[in-house]
Amino acid sequence: MRKILFATNNAHKIQEAQYRIGSIFQVISLKEVGINETIPEPYDTLKENASAKSQYIYNKLHQNCFSEDTGLFVEALHGEPGVHSARYAGEQARDTANLEKLVHKMYGKENRKAHFSTIISLIMDGKEYFFEGHCKGNIVEIANGKMGFGYDPVFKPEGSEKTFGEMDIDEKNEFSHRRKALDLLIDFLTRITPKENLS
Ligand code: IMP
Repeated sequence: MRKILFATNNAHKIQEAQYRIGSIFQVISLKEVGINETIPEPYDTLKENASAKSQYIYNKLHQNCFSEDTGLFVEALHGEPGVHSARYAGEQARDTANLEKLVHKMYGKENRKAHFSTIISLIMDGKEYFFEGHCKGNIVEIANGKMGFGYDPVFKPEGSEKTFGEMDIDEKNEFSHRRKALDLLIDFLTRITPKENLS
């Protein structure tokens, strides 16, 4: 089976990608190629951060790879936490602290609208390509569900009665920003590399 290196060590992201594209590509994590470090995301846009991660790995390993950056954009908070979603409650903040901060800031807010956005940067033979996916929904008042990761327990996508935190990966993938971006990536990869091994 063809392989593709996903420049992340986030096990949830790897799993979501593997579920989505596993029948076509084997998704390889950074850990599997011996890289355990967290790659910095110093920029103010998802696109620049996604690009920085894939460029870093491509330059280090000289291997085709993709990375992604995701943010949750909440209308009532003027787009917060946005590109700073991973560090919302501080530089070293964990998912639970970020989630608690968001629930607190949304207390009493009438407008609950939000969306997730994902930008994928693929570097193939030195050329870079971008793919994006979005998912509209609402922030619930009380976190619900233990599945998924990050802000999943407070995000209810449009068209669903459940939060992402209450969904298994297949259900989340019906709606998810990441799955939509991955679909475009797969479409591209299967069109331009029908026979090659990507890894
Ligand atoms: P990053 O893309 O790894 O920088 O993630 C940014 C922040 O958003 C982190 O706090 C993640 O936990 C969170 N996040 C990323 N993707 C998702 C998702 O699909 N659901 C919920 N939270 C997410």
